[in-house]
Amino acid sequence: DKGGHKHFMAKEIAEQPSVIADALGHYLTDAGRDIRLPEDGIDFKSLDRIVMVACGTAYYACLTAKYWFEQLAGLPVEVDIASEFRYREPPVPERTAALFVSQSGETADTLAALRYCEGKAARILSVVNVPESSIARESDLALPILAGTEIGVASTKAFTCQLTVLLLLALKAAHQRGRIDNDALADKLSQLRALPTALNTALEMNETFRRSAQRLSEADNALFLGRGLMYPLALEGALKLKEISYIHAEAYASGELKHGPIALIDKKMPVIVMAPRDALFDKTVSNMQEVMARGGKVILITDPEGARAADDGVWQCLIMPEIDAVLTPILYALPAQMLAYHTAVAKGTDVDQPRNLAKSVTVE
Ligand code: M6R
Repeated sequence: DKGGHKHFMAKEIAEQPSVIADALGHYLTDAGRDIRLPEDGIDFKSLDRIVMVACGTAYYACLTAKYWFEQLAGLPVEVDIASEFRYREPPVPERTAALFVSQSGETADTLAALRYCEGKAARILSVVNVPESSIARESDLALPILAGTEIGVASTKAFTCQLTVLLLLALKAAHQRGRIDNDALADKLSQLRALPTALNTALEMNETFRRSAQRLSEADNALFLGRGLMYPLALEGALKLKEISYIHAEAYASGELKHGPIALIDKKMPVIVMAPRDALFDKTVSNMQEVMARGGKVILITDPEGARAADDGVWQCLIMPEIDAVLTPILYALPAQMLAYHTAVAKGTDVDQPRNLAKSVTVE
């Protein structure tokens, strides 16, 4: 049942405010000032590092979480693609927790990576959507993301629910490790509770995204740029666009532009720049100006303040509601999904079942 939507993907994008609210309801204590984990919880003070392993979109959720764990909790994180990790057979030092992220919980490479860590990692954790899956069953502690069934092959609501749970873990770690006090934790959690409202506001921009995508659908290639927390999201935006519209898309950390990809910029190249007005905004804007000086067509995804500061010469500006900087990856996922969705619809591709792809990759 597509619930009145043309595609499961559209339905699943629209469900994000409510499933994220469900996940918060599950993990927050009644007063909403603390994060509730299962009985045997996680002792983040006993850990020196976390290694996170996943594939595809779940891998980009891990890359985002690395910024959160390192910046909020001072806990070093390594992130790896499951198919690389399992065959590289890296050492897993003591006091390392291994964390596996998977919507299906059945991805062959991720499961093999988990089995490799058995008997090596101090703790095997997983963040999954399917609680009875192999990855959940074989973990010491499986944390559900509560996204509900995801049918569209392109992952949307599972991604933002993975991010929500990973952010809660990073905040829990920050609190346990004395990086934030009770009030600071409660403050971040209250900002998080406001996220579904911000997502609803962004959903109301559907027609703006559709118009933007109409123009994007004429391109053969697209480049996504972001810095900091927006870099993994740029990777996810490029993957979404590739998967369902078949437009060749690449993502770079903005600072890498000069080291090669700037050679690609011409009048035909749309460049999607993801840049809320955060500490790195000015740096990203200067990269954006380099793109525009070479004729590149910029689609800027930012907030009202960012739009005021950088609107000049931008091809299209998509203005998201103002939100705490830590939460921007979850909110800015929505315009990335919407652009990919409407581009695919404009091109007439099979949105829910893109060619050559399977929902769950259970063989290598
Ligand atoms: O079920 P999993 O989360 O382990 O799946 C991982 C990837 O196969 C998945 O995210 C894939 O990249 C999606 N098609 C992305 O939209």
